[in-house]
Amino acid sequence: MNATQEQLKLKLEQALVAAFGQEYAGVDPILVPASNPKFGDYQANVALSLSKRLGQQPRAIASAIAEKLDVSDFCETPEIAGPGFINFKLKITHLEAQLNAIQADSRLGIPKAKTPKREIVDFSSPNIAKEMHVGHLRSTIIGDCIARILEFRGHDVLRLNHVGDWGTQFGMLIAYLREVYPEALTTANALDIKDLVSFYRQAKQRFDEDQAFQETARQEVVRLQAGAEDTLHAWKLLCEQSRREFQVIYDLLDVQVTERGESFYNPLLAAVVEDLAKSGLLLENQGAKVVFLEGFANREGEPLPLIVQKSDGGYNYATTDLAALCYRIQKDEAKRIIYVTDAGQTNHFAQFFQVARKAGWVPDDVELVHVPFGLVLGEDGKKFKTRSGDTVKLRDLLDEAVIRARADLERRLQEEEREETEAFISKVAQVVGISAVKYADLSQNRTSDYIFSYDKMLDLRGNTAPYMLYAYARIQGISRKAGINFSELGENVQVLLQHETESALAKYLLLLDEVISSVEQELLPNRLGEYLYELSKKFNQFYDRNQGVRVLETDEPLRTSRLVLCDLTARTLKLGLSLLGIPVLERM
Ligand code: ARG
Repeated sequence: MNATQEQLKLKLEQALVAAFGQEYAGVDPILVPASNPKFGDYQANVALSLSKRLGQQPRAIASAIAEKLDVSDFCETPEIAGPGFINFKLKITHLEAQLNAIQADSRLGIPKAKTPKREIVDFSSPNIAKEMHVGHLRSTIIGDCIARILEFRGHDVLRLNHVGDWGTQFGMLIAYLREVYPEALTTANALDIKDLVSFYRQAKQRFDEDQAFQETARQEVVRLQAGAEDTLHAWKLLCEQSRREFQVIYDLLDVQVTERGESFYNPLLAAVVEDLAKSGLLLENQGAKVVFLEGFANREGEPLPLIVQKSDGGYNYATTDLAALCYRIQKDEAKRIIYVTDAGQTNHFAQFFQVARKAGWVPDDVELVHVPFGLVLGEDGKKFKTRSGDTVKLRDLLDEAVIRARADLERRLQEEEREETEAFISKVAQVVGISAVKYADLSQNRTSDYIFSYDKMLDLRGNTAPYMLYAYARIQGISRKAGINFSELGENVQVLLQHETESALAKYLLLLDEVISSVEQELLPNRLGEYLYELSKKFNQFYDRNQGVRVLETDEPLRTSRLVLCDLTARTLKLGLSLLGIPVLERM
């Protein structure tokens, strides 16, 4: 709810009491955006809901409220319509004043959170020596966007990369490393395995085929857990190589994330199991230590256990997450912990959240949120793969987007007979290609699966990054054409809203605050994407020769006022896109 809406709600609440007495204090006036802009900006539906209680016709109730209502500061006289809606239309002077205020504010009127919180965003989180796949790409893009929005709101955000850097698979990897790269273990040099993923595959094959090797691998696990120096060294080498490969992707995406992998919590795992035993929740089940869950059943309808210690004494993914949770609450003092993973892990999160709550580890003021997302599908609607059926390497996927963005750009330059430098072309291709991939993901409701299509995401028309980037560059073109720098328009210019497309654009500009608040709470970045897309369209209507207004060929004071509207649109796009992790281009 924005400031105007809050003010209106308050006035309605007061009028209700004035009209019907104190017992109507606290009744929700049911204020909502108008269903049709023809009727105004907001409507209150309270009269309809009170008809029974008051034993009166809704229209009569609406008039009684309207009579006690004084909103003349910022609204036209309210109108009663239909069965008893009270319609409000904001005064143009009110809109103008608000625009003047945001024009002078580098945050465009978006306040910081009243009570900043420490929040953790657990995202990206690939697994060492395994492929960083499209699921991790989604987690990286969505998690980064959520973190950016919370940071902009002034929260104290800890971005954590919960990499899978521990587990029995390391026994096999280290044993294999000793066999094929014995020298790597004795020199101080970094490991240089050409392809870590196929190394993993070969190690796995070796493990599956050879019993003696399995035994060696098992011994390596024991040595690793006991902290044997040479085994730890091998483990570190593998982690470092993976880390370098992940970093290439983070650099391409311009994403910052702090690594705190599963291994970090190793020293805390035994205590998790002990504490669960103390709280009386822990049971033995077929040699394993488990906690039985409520609301989860197996096929036979029997309650399902969450295993926290396997029969061989080893701990697992859930144990680590429980330990991480305690650490994040106690040491990091997080008040909201957000986990961004594919929807396939929904049960895992619901289960360990339940166990942690039952154990009394989650104080009332701490919120745990799993942010699930759907699958990435190929254009055939099936699992996303290369033509030959292999999984797509993220590096290749991003490079391909840039290559295609470059081809599109070169085609356009030729059509427009424009000459540009190589530096310009590669910069634009890079930004457009990467932004297109990010935006294609963020503009979808994350809970649904989405189809990965280079053609769609790179299209200059439609709800795409290139469309939005183009709208921004077009506005900058206006400033170049006028030979003025938007930032020099001054802070005290008077915005005037005369044309319909101007007030429509103005109202839209003033919605950003609400949109950001909603993303902050519901963690759905697509809301911000939709807003920016709609804003670009509203701008195009305003700037349209036929439907809209002239900007540069207009006399003062309208000319400056319209330039301010251009500037505000550009700044809103720039800010909104930056929260999605997308930089703007002055020209493209
Ligand atoms: N490494 C896991 C995976 O690749 C994701 C980890 C998510 N975070 C967590 N705290 N469980 O699926």
